[in-house]
Amino acid sequence: MKELVENFPEMCEQALRLTVPKKNLKGVKGMLVLGMGGSGITGDIIRDCCDVRVDVCRDYKLPKCDPETLVIAISYSGNTEETLSSFTQALGLKNTLAITSGGKLIELARSGKIDTIQIPSGMPPRAALSYLLFPLIKFLRQSGVRIEGVDEAIESLKSIAKKTKRLREIGNGIEGQIGIYCPPGFEGAARRLKTQINENAKTLARWDSFPELNHNEHVGWENATGKNTVIILRDSGEHERTTARIEYMKEYIGGKSKIFEIFSLGKSKLSRELSLIYQGDLISIFLAEKNGVDATPVQSIDALKEHLSKIK
Ligand code: F6R
Repeated sequence: MKELVENFPEMCEQALRLTVPKKNLKGVKGMLVLGMGGSGITGDIIRDCCDVRVDVCRDYKLPKCDPETLVIAISYSGNTEETLSSFTQALGLKNTLAITSGGKLIELARSGKIDTIQIPSGMPPRAALSYLLFPLIKFLRQSGVRIEGVDEAIESLKSIAKKTKRLREIGNGIEGQIGIYCPPGFEGAARRLKTQINENAKTLARWDSFPELNHNEHVGWENATGKNTVIILRDSGEHERTTARIEYMKEYIGGKSKIFEIFSLGKSKLSRELSLIYQGDLISIFLAEKNGVDATPVQSIDALKEHLSKIK
């Protein structure tokens, strides 16, 4: 897993070279991404980084969507039952796309003549983010959806890969209950860090975003006890009132929690979001090392999938 995470910038470049279908999306008013876990996060990133409305569905049931919506099913394995179920309900719609390495999703897409991006197999889904995301960005851009900053994002990732000392210090410094806070618009990055800490470091974590957390989570700190760590994702484009809230919060919880901050890199939203994601992925690997656990296997997810496969 560590090698895959370290190679993320190069994998993004390779992923961009994949051939993707071309579609005219001029009339498309919004997107609905169907996907779970390490695949579904792709939808959150697209939502955070493009001007078009994007919703992410993590359910068996396809939500109501108008005929002008582009529905994108993303499942790395192609066998995730929630995604297969919701996508089956979308098959009659005008604009659909499937992204997968194979499995039942590729069969479903082929039999329904659905545009498909097939990506290389053999990786843990969450380590295949480069392949799940960059060919989709390529597809969207060549189909008329504006997502800027691809080259800048890859340069930012490469510069992060060269300097990981601080990220290792953060991974080593994490203790107790873990909270991840982000400015609005970076929910994908915050969710990704939470899930990477869960799956790579085998550790519980929660995430929330400013300013919303000041209206609820904030109060929970009144009774906080024990060890706590908060990682705050910072962005140069934060609203000044959000910055004031973050600074207040650092003072307010400082006596009860360790606080670490990581900062976004670049001008484009894609670079800023992915730079936070990549720093978070590396932190989760360093935390796994500190915890003495193997970052790769996700035995409890596998056990549940196995259990559910026996229930009809
Ligand atoms: C495992 C992982 C999981 C999976 C999820 C859905 O590495 O990240 O969160 O992504 O169980 O499976 P796929 O991605 O195959 O649809």
